[in-house]
Amino acid sequence: TADAVTAIRGPLVYCRDDPFLTDPATAFVHEPDGLLICRGGKFEAVGDFQTLRDQIPAGSTVAHYPDGLIAPGFVDTHVHYVQTGIIGSYGQGLLGWLDDYTFPAEQELADESRARAMASVFCDELLRNGTTTAMVFCAVYPQSVDALFAEAQRRNMRIIAGKVLMDTNAPDALRDTPQTGYDQSKSLIDKWHKRGRNLYAITPRFAGTSSREQLAMAGALWREHKDVFVQTHIAENRDEVAWMQKLFPERRDYLDIYDHAGLTGRRAVMAHGIYLDEDALCRCHESGTALAHCPTSNLFLGSGLFRTRDAKDPRRPVHVGMGTDIGAGTSFSMLATLGEGYKVSQLGGAPVSAIEGFFLATLGGARALDLDDRIGTFRAGNEADFVVLNPRATPILKFREQRSRSIEETLFVLMTMGDDRAVTATYVAGRPAHALSSVDS
Ligand code: GUN
Ligand code: ZN
Repeated sequence: TADAVTAIRGPLVYCRDDPFLTDPATAFVHEPDGLLICRGGKFEAVGDFQTLRDQIPAGSTVAHYPDGLIAPGFVDTHVHYVQTGIIGSYGQGLLGWLDDYTFPAEQELADESRARAMASVFCDELLRNGTTTAMVFCAVYPQSVDALFAEAQRRNMRIIAGKVLMDTNAPDALRDTPQTGYDQSKSLIDKWHKRGRNLYAITPRFAGTSSREQLAMAGALWREHKDVFVQTHIAENRDEVAWMQKLFPERRDYLDIYDHAGLTGRRAVMAHGIYLDEDALCRCHESGTALAHCPTSNLFLGSGLFRTRDAKDPRRPVHVGMGTDIGAGTSFSMLATLGEGYKVSQLGGAPVSAIEGFFLATLGGARALDLDDRIGTFRAGNEADFVVLNPRATPILKFREQRSRSIEETLFVLMTMGDDRAVTATYVAGRPAHALSSVDS
């Protein structure tokens, strides 16, 4: 029943604040023997086991993970479910990859039964990797959105998604028009926004595939539905940036194309942002526009190196979340994504710490999505989405973990070598949604 109580005991790790902006020692919490009491999909109590044990209702069983690390469910702030079938497509930079692999593949999603099958594989994969919230691009077809939201609702996952808007520079079969894109998005908002845990995102693919008219109508739709989200791509690749200058010579820069259309602000999430300059980062800060850092994708397509610490500069911090960006990204695992993000930050001369990385994949993602009042941390009243990690999941992790001297080191090794094998269990709204089947993997 909805009122059933789940109690989970074990070491807790979570952020309660932003370690880029405040002392990591207070931003990050490690509770060596913690307890989560969940009721009705939310945390009823969070804290130390000894203090809270009397609050466990008589008769309820306690799931105990003494050797695990219990963390808030991961937040993937940028991913394309409709590209699940083209991960690992060889040899192209962004624009060639879109033409040769992505656009052909997304046409498959016109078939609703194939969309449903892909949505199911996609949600399975999120949960196997400990991801409980994702902000997702669907295809141009409204039925591809129906398929994902129906699947997410069945699993009670908090998913943000939307129909791609693209009316130019794409194959005929993938194009809408400013009016049909507006109308279809509007009816999808009416149908799905806030239904179950689903939330809608107005989704102009990027300025390369939307006309001025389409961008303006997307902005108008957002003004009419201010509580929905916006997602797009920005400044991912040098050729793409040069193309935008050619397409929109009247605009000050790439961000200004979206700003002019009314598509920047809180709950607008732009993927990549590698080539945004200081001035543009200031405007992201002022407007609350968030960036999704997608390191495996950026390396796979040779796009470039995002400067996380620069984006998070305390003088004008920009909201940043992590994104897998499947299918240009190469892993559904937020641990693997953090591992690549660390390497990218090393190449930029400003390595991200384990706690900073952990923040970006949990509470930082929640803040980027303006959902930090509900997810991303452990706090009574929040939604009970969490993951049980196993720092000794593989022989080499186990060998390495014996030498770890601190919780930071354990987390860092997990980010460096961990993946879905390190996800023992995933809970969605207080219920088990995935459990690793192999014993002692
Ligand atoms: N820019 C516009 N569309 C896409 C896409 O599907 N993937 C990536 N990585 N960048 C894009
Ligand atoms: Zn993308």
